[in-house]
Amino acid sequence: MKKQELVDILLDNTKNDWLFKEADRVRRENVGDEVHLRGLIEFSNICKRQCKYCGLRSSNKEIERYRILKEEILLYAKKAVEMGYQTLVLQSGEDEYYDTDKMIEIIREIKKFDIALTLSIGEKTYEEFKAFKEAGVDRYLIRIETTDEKLYQEMHPNASFENRVQCLYNLKSLGFETGSGCLVGLPNQTIESLADDILFFKELDADMIGIGPFIPHEQTPLKDAPKGDFWLALKVMALTRINLPNINIPATTAMETLNPNGRIIALQSGANVVMPNVTSKEYRAKYEIYPGKICINENPEQCRGCIEAKIKSIGRTISQTKGFRNKLS
Ligand code: SAM
Ligand code: SF4
Ligand code: FES
Repeated sequence: MKKQELVDILLDNTKNDWLFKEADRVRRENVGDEVHLRGLIEFSNICKRQCKYCGLRSSNKEIERYRILKEEILLYAKKAVEMGYQTLVLQSGEDEYYDTDKMIEIIREIKKFDIALTLSIGEKTYEEFKAFKEAGVDRYLIRIETTDEKLYQEMHPNASFENRVQCLYNLKSLGFETGSGCLVGLPNQTIESLADDILFFKELDADMIGIGPFIPHEQTPLKDAPKGDFWLALKVMALTRINLPNINIPATTAMETLNPNGRIIALQSGANVVMPNVTSKEYRAKYEIYPGKICINENPEQCRGCIEAKIKSIGRTISQTKGFRNKLS
């Protein structure tokens, strides 16, 4: 689609039902009815960055920080594999303790389980990405957050928009399945820039796109900003599916935080992936990127059972494969 068409659809709420049904059809025809479950390990909430929207930003002194060390990460990984997960996602703040060598030790151990591995640990140099790839990492997630450069700079003090874009192209050129995505509802974000975000995903030929509504966090500079709109986030996601038909799109936790049925609605509007948490309860509340996060009182078994039941209730099946991008269609 052209930019103006995207803008028109995003502005017009009279055809939302059509849009969601169309995205659901494109999803079914291109990636089928299987839902891929990715087990998420949030292994450190320590972060050197200052993203204005995020509760993990380094200047938030009220949050209790934690770091899960290698042996414990491997324990969660083993349990997740036993529960049937075929992909694990290791996510953290930008925590310098985990240098390339430490990450590679963890990667090598996890890859022994014969599963796909995704990292979501922030911006790295080309050489670091290359070392991760050589150690066996399959996928890497870096949301662009917004393609509005001015807004990006406002939201990310001391960070470089150019470098974030470069990281994504480096990941692509190194052969990673590359994930990106954006926040919907940042202060001063325009509908035009959301259309640009979708065009950026297309231009990058992203393999995975995660869209989440912005949720204000009390201990950040954006505490008084209004929260993002669930339906607008869903529309950006549906349009992403229509424009990139065969990619993997998660029904995000932030969507379910704003709408109790958010992940199921998302799965029926273009999404085909869910990322349940596989770490123990003690860490979940502390990984508070935004308030009201779901699943903080559940354990990995409960989340697996819960999400399987929800997926089956809408007539979809759980994938038994590693769930790489379906490049055939
Ligand atoms: N530190 C890595 C990074 O930023 O790429 C990975 C972890 S970070 C917590 C993962 C995602 O959380 C970010 O890409 C951002 O879009 C999302 N996030 C952070 N704060 C948020 C908020 N207040 N509302 C919604 N999503 C948020
Ligand atoms: Fe750190 Fe990621 Fe949060 Fe930014 S979004 S403060 S990089 S954890
Ligand atoms: Fe965690 Fe439903 S997925 S409780």
